[in-house]
Amino acid sequence: MKKIKFTINGKEYFAKKGETVLDVALREKIEIPHLCKHPDLKIKGNCRMCLVEAGGQITTACSTEVLPDLTIKTNTKEVERGRKINLELIFSEHIEKCPTCLYQDNCTILKYAAKYNVKIARFEDRKKNFPVWQFSDSIQFDSSKCIDCRNCEEVCREKQACSFYEITEDKGEDQIIKPKGEANGNQKLETRNQGVDLLKNDPNKFDCTYCGQCVTHCPVGAIAGVSHWQAVEKLLQNKNGKVLIAEIAPSIRVSIGEEFGQDYGKIMTGQLAASMKALGFDYAFDVNLGADFTTYEEAKELVKWITEDKPRPMFTSCCPAWVKFVEFFYPEFISHLTSANSPHMCSGPVIKTFFADYLKKDPRDIEIVSIMPCTSKKHEIGLEKHRIDLGWCLERLDLPNIASVCQSRGGLAGIKVPAVDHILTTREYAFLLHKNKIDLPNLKPIDLDRPLGVSSGAGAIYGASGGVMESALRSADYFFRVLDETGSLDPVIKGENYKLKKKRFSKISQSRIEFREARGQAGIKTARVKVGGRKLNIAVANGLGNAKKILEDLKAGRVKYDYVEVMACPGGCIGGGGQPIPTNAEIRAKRAAALYEIDKNLPVRTAHENPSVLEVYNKYFKGDEELIEHVLHSKFKVKEREGYKEV
Ligand code: FES
Repeated sequence: MKKIKFTINGKEYFAKKGETVLDVALREKIEIPHLCKHPDLKIKGNCRMCLVEAGGQITTACSTEVLPDLTIKTNTKEVERGRKINLELIFSEHIEKCPTCLYQDNCTILKYAAKYNVKIARFEDRKKNFPVWQFSDSIQFDSSKCIDCRNCEEVCREKQACSFYEITEDKGEDQIIKPKGEANGNQKLETRNQGVDLLKNDPNKFDCTYCGQCVTHCPVGAIAGVSHWQAVEKLLQNKNGKVLIAEIAPSIRVSIGEEFGQDYGKIMTGQLAASMKALGFDYAFDVNLGADFTTYEEAKELVKWITEDKPRPMFTSCCPAWVKFVEFFYPEFISHLTSANSPHMCSGPVIKTFFADYLKKDPRDIEIVSIMPCTSKKHEIGLEKHRIDLGWCLERLDLPNIASVCQSRGGLAGIKVPAVDHILTTREYAFLLHKNKIDLPNLKPIDLDRPLGVSSGAGAIYGASGGVMESALRSADYFFRVLDETGSLDPVIKGENYKLKKKRFSKISQSRIEFREARGQAGIKTARVKVGGRKLNIAVANGLGNAKKILEDLKAGRVKYDYVEVMACPGGCIGGGGQPIPTNAEIRAKRAAALYEIDKNLPVRTAHENPSVLEVYNKYFKGDEELIEHVLHSKFKVKEREGYKEV
């Protein structure tokens, strides 16, 4: 394709057809300030920070397509004056709440203010009485900080198919962005039990899935996750006899470095383990082990699903925003979700039962902090279905030490505890480290604690779109072979590593590891794969808008799949709502590549060969399927509208 020649500040550059001045400037590292431009979204030209002179006219670089021989000037007096006044106007819409803002060390508009010597308070703060909205326990939208760039509204409507935000119909500066409908407190919620028909084509129904894509696409921190770091900090300062455990999700280790100036995709597992100890946590665990439990159960369920010929497809369910999307918008597919818990909802119960017994601790004296890429996880940990019924566990599991330590406190009958107590997003955890002057990149790497730090490559790839599918297929391939050769899944349920017991020429020992068909950043991936001798049609979607396309195609009978993975966020958890900002396709691809690198280099790459997983099945579950169901599975139900409240 012919390149277009043009000049920026007197120097020649080349652009491809359709590229804007800002596209080329970003590629060539020519500084042009910008706020509302996001590569995931359409050009809206709302912030007007990217002013340049193009062919003698002042215009926005993000919306100006390069033409042959165009002359661009990025730093004339008029351009700088225009940017300065626009920034002053932006500050009149954005109340500075810097001491409590997670972006205080990384605030783009403060950096621009310093660069252009802008008086932050030149104009009166016109939004000083604007409300803060809270969506469940996950997201807060502080409308007094909103600069009306509309990125949140677009990403929610266009990419996530939720349309939870609206642009009001007012004119001029009175036109604002807000959550749709009335606040929760003012509106009586409708109760739906079998609400399948009620939900169809009802334009008045909208709700938040807490995916947090509005957070990662907001350029000024007006939308953020509800913070848990204060509660965690308080616990660390006064443990009060409690054991504090931190656990890291698969994708954190390849993204957190960005908060400390490291390259995209830098692997920091060892430094993260050291940082958890430096902050004062007693144990540093890996959610990847929980992911191995999820995989084990999900693969087992998939094998049963196929052999029992249940209605297809089976859907993954470890992304809570996706689950909420199905429960709210597509309840007719609820019965298609795998009931296997998400990774940290598997590791939490394992820690608060088996590990508590090993520690000789009352589970009530253990607090778990999951460090997650996700804002929706903040909602997930509050769900009643994820509370552990300790009395029931004590009756059914062999936990003599817990029984003995709890006796003096009246036993555990009727006592329920959350599986996980707090969620810190990647950004929040980095903030806590900065606040405590812990310089992550310079910590000496250490191992995660054992036994719960042992995990497989299958757990590692959970953070990338297609990772859950590939992990489950690795084990399903093996489980199908066990079923075919032994006639039952009993060895699987009992946690016996059959592969090791079999001779080299057994089909079991030839099970497949990699399913590359599931990998990549495409919004929807489909393939026909051979799993344990069966041909399965698979689909992988990332982004709820893509999930909606699959659901609509399934409903209309246009497609047929056996197994479908959905992650609400672009690229999967590596593009999650709690991840470092910015995130875009290029950054997500680098984070994903690092996860596959981790997988490739681990000695164990499948959940069914993880010795820690097999030990729990062997020693504690002892083939008791009801027990496994109780500890590692959940049920789903139609969701009522939860809306939002003013805080
Ligand atoms: Fe160009 Fe906002 S980045 S107008």
